[in-house]
Amino acid sequence: MSLINTIACGDCREILPTLPAKSFQLAFADPPYWVGFDYGEKTDKDMAFIEPNFLVNELRRIADVVLVTPGMRHFYDYPKCDWILSWNKPASTGQSKLGGFCVWEPVLVYGIPSKKVWQDSFTALGGREFDADFHACPKPLSLLKWLIENFTEPNQNVIDPTSGSGTTCKAAFQLGRGYFGIEIDPNIAELSRQRLLQSQPPLLAVGGLTQRAADGYAASQQSSLFAVGEQPAKVSGAKRRR
Ligand SMILES: C[S@@+](CC[C@H](N)C(=O)[O-])C[C@H]1O[C@@H](n2cnc3c(N)ncnc32)[C@H](O)[C@@H]1O
Repeated sequence: MSLINTIACGDCREILPTLPAKSFQLAFADPPYWVGFDYGEKTDKDMAFIEPNFLVNELRRIADVVLVTPGMRHFYDYPKCDWILSWNKPASTGQSKLGGFCVWEPVLVYGIPSKKVWQDSFTALGGREFDADFHACPKPLSLLKWLIENFTEPNQNVIDPTSGSGTTCKAAFQLGRGYFGIEIDPNIAELSRQRLLQSQPPLLAVGGLTQRAADGYAASQQSSLFAVGEQPAKVSGAKRRR
């Protein structure tokens, strides 16, 4: 059964090694920063560490190009990358204990993009989408759309091993790409699935819906999209903002 256009509930450290090589064109990983960030009932320091070398090596085996937002605390734990993009967030008010560094964040690039990426920075305000309010720290949808548009073509597939509120999946879906998300928290996984079910299908200028996007959207209207993962016992509401 295809995993495309599904969000699995599970530990990416267990699921990634089961995936075939080169099955995605792009991987985007936004792992916890492990800085004590408040997720409501726990902090990100309570989450098991995903070893950076393991994460990057596994994603490079699975995908042509890998993008990672490492945060600063563990930035230097990551293997040497091929390129660094800057996510600019000028309205950010966060203050780092390191002495600033709150108006941009690095996006590490592993692998060579298949097409020219004409700029190495993108500005996206940190504000969240209304439909991601259940998550403590979603990335901006506009940032993910910019990355996916620049690093993939329509009908290609994107994997996010720590998919959280499903921002990567929503961006991919709306751009006519396939997605596969992995999220360890059952409540977040279920809420992100609901977010995807409520997302608009892609409205492409040329030729209307791509076939894959149209198929995915039709399937989402008929039944649960999601073949992998457990059903959560309960779905809790909004968490704290970052
Ligand atoms: C920084 S958040 C990702 C936010 C996401 N980019 C978004 O826009 O919503 C990291 C997510 O990784 C999840 N996570 C932590 N450890 C994980 C693991 N081992 N496998 C899969 N997901 C994990 C957390 O529950 C959290 O939702």
